[in-house]
Amino acid sequence: MRTHIFPLLTIFLLSLSSSSSSSSNLIKDTCKKCSDTDPNIRYNFCTSSFNSSPDSNQTTDLRQLGLVSIRLTKNNVTSTRHFIKHLLRDDKNKKMNNNNNTITNTTTKLDPYVKACLNDCMELYSDAVSTIKLAVKDYKAKRYDDANIGLSSVIDASTTCEDGFKENDNSKNKSKNHVVSPLTKRNDNAFQLTAISLSIINMLRN
Ligand SMILES: *[C@@H]1O[C@H](CO)[C@@H](O)[C@H](O)[C@H]1NC(C)=O
Ligand SMILES: *[C@@H]1O[C@H](CO)[C@@H](O)[C@H](O)[C@H]1NC(C)=O
Ligand SMILES: *[C@@H]1O[C@H](CO)[C@@H](O)[C@H](O)[C@H]1NC(C)=O
Ligand SMILES: *[C@@H]1O[C@H](CO)[C@@H](O)[C@H](O)[C@H]1NC(C)=O
Ligand SMILES: *[C@@H]1O[C@H](CO)[C@@H](O)[C@H](O)[C@H]1NC(C)=O
Repeated sequence: MRTHIFPLLTIFLLSLSSSSSSSSNLIKDTCKKCSDTDPNIRYNFCTSSFNSSPDSNQTTDLRQLGLVSIRLTKNNVTSTRHFIKHLLRDDKNKKMNNNNNTITNTTTKLDPYVKACLNDCMELYSDAVSTIKLAVKDYKAKRYDDANIGLSSVIDASTTCEDGFKENDNSKNKSKNHVVSPLTKRNDNAFQLTAISLSIINMLRN
């Protein structure tokens, strides 16, 4: 076995080192195209996202890069779902403490409106996670139309989540005003990563 594995490994490592610079060009070219066709995608966001993935350096064609992109999106969206879950769970614990007369620090309790928004976002992001998992399968099977539909709904989830906090700005109820979304950055990350995936899918479809 050993004698077979060693040459294979050498070939693998050789192909890795030679593909590193071409994958770097692929990332730059693709990010340029993405940001040219979709003004929502920032070129630097695109390149740094790909460069943060160890898979990127082994990527030699657009199809592989598309999969890297969808996986980055999946991890990001999954992590945001966890983040929201923690915010809501911490708040629940605080409430329980507040019911107990020994602890009365209410300053960190979530605003009821924010909490309602977070609950909506939790639902949106939970759906998004399962949708992306399906999109990965569709993408691998080259069902690009299906992957496109799924990922478009993930984009919608990120904007619907963020808009929930903004709706409040126009509210006549003054006590509800000035709610700040704790998810702005994360929603933007999800939006852009998904937009990059969609952009690559559209290149492959054409
Ligand atoms: C989500 O994506 C953004 C942009 O690539 C990155 O800065 C951030 O660290 C990612 N978060 C996670 C948890 O992957
Ligand atoms: C990928 O390769 C580039 C240049 O070859 C390097 O700068 C970068 O650190 C590498 N990234 C990873 C995650 O290995
Ligand atoms: C209130 O909290 C204190 C300290 O955490 C605990 O000892 C006590 O049993 C709690 N009381 C109730 C009614 O839960
Ligand atoms: C309540 O908790 C927050 C953060 O945990 C802290 O910054 C604040 O000083 C606390 N307020 C009181 C009255 O203990
Ligand atoms: C405004 O919002 C606060 C907190 O959510 C609520 O208690 C109050 O009843 C609302 N007032 C009106 C007029 O809707």
